[in-house]
Amino acid sequence: MNGGVDLFEKIPTGVEGLDVMLKGGLIKGRTYLIKGGPGTGKTILSMHFLVEGAKRGENVVYITLEEPENEVRENMETLGFDLSNVTIVDLSPTSGHPIFSSLMGFESGIDVKTFENILQDIIGDNIDRVVIDSITMLKVATPTETEYRASLLRLMRTLKVKFNATTVLISELGNGVEDYLVNGMIELRTIEVKGRAVRGIKIVKMRGSDFDETIRPYRITNRGIEVYPDLSVFEV
Ligand SMILES: Nc1ncnc2c1ncn2[C@@H]1O[C@H](COP(=O)(O)OP(=O)(O)OP(=O)(O)O)[C@@H](O)[C@H]1O
Ligand SMILES: [Mg+2]
Repeated sequence: MNGGVDLFEKIPTGVEGLDVMLKGGLIKGRTYLIKGGPGTGKTILSMHFLVEGAKRGENVVYITLEEPENEVRENMETLGFDLSNVTIVDLSPTSGHPIFSSLMGFESGIDVKTFENILQDIIGDNIDRVVIDSITMLKVATPTETEYRASLLRLMRTLKVKFNATTVLISELGNGVEDYLVNGMIELRTIEVKGRAVRGIKIVKMRGSDFDETIRPYRITNRGIEVYPDLSVFEV
């Protein structure tokens, strides 16, 4: 027992209500998974996390593997996000980036070295926050689960050891081996309450930290995501 003392440095996610649920934020230098169905706000949540870092003068990177950069920018700018200090790396199918064709070559799974080189070329050694949106593409491009597990672990290790970056991976709903590998997992859900669809956010796991285990309601507004840490999904 540590008497409730936090042993790790926590960094705010940029969503106040979520930070309350997380008792301060995410642990620096670790890898987290945000999971949710389509349109539940995964990209928006991850952008809050990056913009918060950028505001603090950190080096932050958003890697898109699905939505093209210009669409991500348009969507996020309508929500008032200032992306001027967020580096966007476009590895989406329409980007023509060679990593995409190598992924689709079904050869070696996640090419960690190429990932590392891309990050290093663009940012250098000093990266504080990284988002990979989404890992689903990496997963389908890896022939076996064993290889996927090994390469995901290599990628997580590189991001930690080389860059000491706090990483957010985004994935679709459904169970996967990544659930067990990451240090923490947050799910965005749509729950039916009295015949109404309510958005709910749930922290599924958070190694090394106490957290609020209740599903809390959240909304997506024209300023992004708002989490209500004092309400239950039955009260909204
Ligand atoms: N101005 C707004 N007001 C209210 N809700 C909004 C607004 N802008 C976006 N949304 C909501 O946010 C959702 C999109 O958020 P986001 O792109 O983060 O979802 P996602 O989980 O990343 O989706 P996908 O799985 O398709 O990538 C929309 O489906 C919509 O419900
Ligand atoms: Mg998205």
